[in-house]
Amino acid sequence: MGKIKIVLATSNQGKVREIKKILDIKGIKILSLADFSERIRITENGRTFKENAVKKARAAQKKFGLAAIADDSGLCVDALHKKPGVRSARFARPPVTSEKLCKKLLRVMKDIPDKKRTAFFVCAVAVAGPGGRIKIIEGKVKGTIIRQLKGTRGFGYDSVFVPRGYEKTFARMPIAQKNKISHRGIAFRRTREYLSSILREK
Ligand code: IMP
Repeated sequence: MGKIKIVLATSNQGKVREIKKILDIKGIKILSLADFSERIRITENGRTFKENAVKKARAAQKKFGLAAIADDSGLCVDALHKKPGVRSARFARPPVTSEKLCKKLLRVMKDIPDKKRTAFFVCAVAVAGPGGRIKIIEGKVKGTIIRQLKGTRGFGYDSVFVPRGYEKTFARMPIAQKNKISHRGIAFRRTREYLSSILREK
């Protein structure tokens, strides 16, 4: 039996590499948007991570006629009514850099006391089956926002986020350690289990 092809609806090559590593399942071949010459344009204007992930997965599934997987993620700060949330990537003025995002967050949170600086990262994954069936899977990691940038690895808000139970920011952890506890790691390991269970049913 040939391998089942699934399109990963992202053109971020860093994400593609990480996700391919986790979804390394016998019987499944993971493709990305880079494997197709046709392009899809998706505006991430949903109100939730799930909405955005579903929108991206559906668009790729329709365009290429294959099962598709998409994710959407971001940071939610409790004291900011869960902001920046779905706007995490656009929280600073363009051209956006990780440093700008972290500095803006620290500025907005400067009067928030240590005890109230709790936050969490969320990653929503949507799997769109060839028949239009949608499965949504979520991963979450809780932590706190510290008061200055620490560490140089990672991206986005990694330099200001310390996961619960740890003393280092994500930006000071080796990528393998971050993946073990991160929202994306959790969500994609669950996706792996889901895909494996579908294969077993066949
Ligand atoms: P997207 O899922 O690529 O749309 O990510 C949205 C934004 O959320 C990113 O640009 C980052 O600013 C933030 N973000 C998501 N995941 C992480 C993470 O693991 N570390 C730091 N920032 C993240």
